[in-house]
Amino acid sequence: MKTRITELFGIEHPIIQGGMHFVGLAEMAAAVSNAGGLGIITGLTQRTPEGLAKEIARCKEMTDKPFGVNLTFLPSVNPPDYPGFVKVIIESGVKVVETAGNNPQKYLPALKEAGIKVIHKCTAVRHALKAEKIGCDAVSVDGFECGGHPGEDDIPNFILLPRAADELTIPFVASGGMADARSLVAALAMGAEGMNMGTRFIATKEAPVHENVKQAIVDASELDTRLVMRPLRNTERVLTNPAVERLLAKEKELGANLRFEDIADEVAGVYPKIMQEGHMEIGAWSCGMVAGLINDIPSVQELIDQVMTEADTLIKQRLSGLC
Ligand SMILES: Cc1cc2nc3c(=O)[nH]c(=O)nc-3n(C[C@H](O)[C@H](O)[C@H](O)COP(=O)(O)O)c2cc1C
Repeated sequence: MKTRITELFGIEHPIIQGGMHFVGLAEMAAAVSNAGGLGIITGLTQRTPEGLAKEIARCKEMTDKPFGVNLTFLPSVNPPDYPGFVKVIIESGVKVVETAGNNPQKYLPALKEAGIKVIHKCTAVRHALKAEKIGCDAVSVDGFECGGHPGEDDIPNFILLPRAADELTIPFVASGGMADARSLVAALAMGAEGMNMGTRFIATKEAPVHENVKQAIVDASELDTRLVMRPLRNTERVLTNPAVERLLAKEKELGANLRFEDIADEVAGVYPKIMQEGHMEIGAWSCGMVAGLINDIPSVQELIDQVMTEADTLIKQRLSGLC
């Protein structure tokens, strides 16, 4: 399938694997890129620019296809060494960067000068328009359904995607709630040029996470996610568990007085214990409502092949048969 996104990134299928903390390692990104999509290494999971350089080198050993690096700009008192991460990305020859979390303007001149394509992930049309204005090449439009940070506007993709299509000139992919061929075809119908998946890619054979994480996604229904940190205006959609219920009880009790320190036990530093060691109830971890559509753990190649084959059938048989 050829779209503006496959052309922009030089990939076979219009499918991107969004950056995911402690999931977007070289194994994940290489598996997606080898299957014809765009795999993405999560920059900040590597603590230092040197660590990221090694991860990029490892990924290059596993694939000769294009892959990208995610740079998430977090609200932080002691920010990571972003200039160092950008330098490593440029020097390593990576050709795609997915930015998220905040305006990437400061780093765009250096990235563009190095010929790097930038796709910015955002949850509002106004932010997508801003990304277009400052020179991003594409945007990933993340609806309220998404795993991770859906922003504070709560606009689901059935509204957000056509709104984005009405306003944007640069190409965009649909993100949040995407799982299969139906998602891809619907996203294309609403004006997107492809789709970005997070949660779906965690439940694959190659995802470098503990089996408990994959099984938790398979076991979950669309009713099992919760929104945490809303009082801090840093809303995150996570899979529910006892730690999340504890966190929500604290939010309720403390109301407007809630500070990050009050919930640090449930959110700070929990990812390695969950993703690598499989301690599923230790804290809050991002997961999309799309878990309700995920019932198996295929290889990435099987997943992407199935999406593309069924998308073809959906378009040529079901949809054209209706006219
Ligand atoms: C476990 C997990 C960790 C994530 N970590 C990040 C991250 O570090 N940076 C980022 O930009 N997005 C992150 N995301 C968001 C994904 O890249 C993607 O936008 C989102 O998962 C799409 O929604 P979906 O899960 O419904 O497919 C994360 C998502 C999950 C599920």
